[in-house]
Amino acid sequence: MALRMIDHGTKEYQQMVTLRNDILRKPLGLSFDKEELDKEKDDILMGAFEDEKLLGCCLLTRVDPYTVRLRQMAVPNNMQGKGVGRALMIFAENIARDLGYRKLCMHARKTAIGFYQKLGYSITGDEFTEVTIPHYIMEKAL
Ligand SMILES: CC(C)(COP(=O)(O)OP(=O)(O)OC[C@H]1O[C@@H](n2cnc3c(N)ncnc32)[C@H](O)[C@@H]1OP(=O)(O)O)[C@@H](O)C(=O)NCCC(=O)NCCS
Repeated sequence: MALRMIDHGTKEYQQMVTLRNDILRKPLGLSFDKEELDKEKDDILMGAFEDEKLLGCCLLTRVDPYTVRLRQMAVPNNMQGKGVGRALMIFAENIARDLGYRKLCMHARKTAIGFYQKLGYSITGDEFTEVTIPHYIMEKAL
């Protein structure tokens, strides 16, 4: 498995959007709009690959000079539970640290809390609804 950055607008970016749509949006009856995807030009996009195949992805969005937010973490159903998500998180944390960020946060789906807890993240607030489902803010000092 190779972990690498993805450039916005490339063929790999299209693969990433397809994976995110399949895993994170379609099951909720939602999709992406162009404006939302255009904003990702400013984000740090990452993927885990086996040859040309995308095994998982996530992205980082700057919040302030010290804080970065992880978003859009997705692993295909048939690849979940094999360590891809953990490898992507460690890759994303190292990139964030190298860029000088001190804190990583995310809006974690309730169903994914256990995954982030295993990586040292803590819940910091009350449950809220996003993309129609329950979420919690989680964070960790880098
Ligand atoms: C959540 C997700 C990104 C985790 O990636 P993954 O590759 O399946 O996770 P890993 O195999 O790296 O798991 C790392 C550890 O977390 C655990 N884990 C994984 N998903 C979990 C979950 N949903 N709840 C609790 N624990 C979980 C694994 O059992 C493993 O534990 P171990 O170290 O004791 O073996 C992936 O399952 C996924 O894409 N799910 C659907 C979309 C989603 O919920 N994305 C997150 C949005 S906030």
